[in-house]
Amino acid sequence: MNRIRIRRPDDWHLHLRDGALLEAVVPATARSFGRAIVMPNLKPPVRTVAEAGAYRDRILAARPAGSRFEPLMTLYLTETTSVDDIREAAESDFVHAVKYYPAGATTNSDSGVRELERAYPAIEAMEKHGVPLLMHGEVTDGDIDVFDREAVFIERHLEKLRSTFPAMKMVLEHATTSDAIDYVNSAPGPTAATITVHHLMFNRNALFEGGLRPHHYCLPLIKRERHRQALLAAATSGNERFFLGTDSAPHPKHAKESDCGCAGVYSAPAAMELYAEVFEAAGALDKLEAFASLNGPAFYGLPPSNETIELRKQPWQMDRELTAGQETIVPLRAGDEIGWRQVG
Ligand code: DOR
Ligand code: ZN
Repeated sequence: MNRIRIRRPDDWHLHLRDGALLEAVVPATARSFGRAIVMPNLKPPVRTVAEAGAYRDRILAARPAGSRFEPLMTLYLTETTSVDDIREAAESDFVHAVKYYPAGATTNSDSGVRELERAYPAIEAMEKHGVPLLMHGEVTDGDIDVFDREAVFIERHLEKLRSTFPAMKMVLEHATTSDAIDYVNSAPGPTAATITVHHLMFNRNALFEGGLRPHHYCLPLIKRERHRQALLAAATSGNERFFLGTDSAPHPKHAKESDCGCAGVYSAPAAMELYAEVFEAAGALDKLEAFASLNGPAFYGLPPSNETIELRKQPWQMDRELTAGQETIVPLRAGDEIGWRQVG
């Protein structure tokens, strides 16, 4: 198969940042995706419907002329998120979920949750109003190996959360392990997971290939090959619990190539092309539409797009660097040939 036409996909996990960086990165996502769930980990975080509305306006203003790209907003869960905040979110027509960050787990997570139980009143309201809980599923304890933090989170927190709030829509974001896939495959209730393209492309050797590779550093970390295989099997299975979420997370080049570099892979400029490469290599291009364009809307209770995009097997070269205002960003696969291209 040298070309494929699918319904316009959506990105169910995306970082757009703010200011000049926001303006620089919105067009890359809007080129391929009809909608995106926009992460709230700004500084300060997006905690209320009013803040989400203002952020949404800034995103809409950054769209290229004529674009109908629709940002789906999220709130950042804290230990003081109130039942009223959740009710307001449910009543708004632009907040679609609430994001849980364990405090200290990743970029701008300092205001996140330390004791999950303290957020239970808000979570109970989410269950009642049908607002999905999106989870950064890692424990943060210094004594837990960084490669095991997702598996330990599932064991310690996820199972209890699932049984305490059986009707709540829950998404384990950026699943990285076979433990996560096994959990989502067999969990009761409305449970789903997003899968990034970089976790499908790479195992953890990619962090050290020919030297230390800061542009492959993200959280949760890329894992062993057997975990990548489990993610690939889930993404290409057609199972509606698994859908596309790039976790595209731009950082300025100097913040990545640093003594204490930031976590995040900027995949938006070729996200759909790279997913097509991965699905083709797995002999599963026929499953790309379900993963990218159908399963996510079904979980969120939204209609799939009635537009289409076309991808062709037509090699091109990714720029080595991109400019974003005064900053430079290094995209995933910088300087490399990419086998597929979106042509319409
Ligand atoms: O690699 C990551 N980057 N993981 C996250 O959880 C956050 C993200 C970011 O905001 O940079
Ligand atoms: Zn993220």
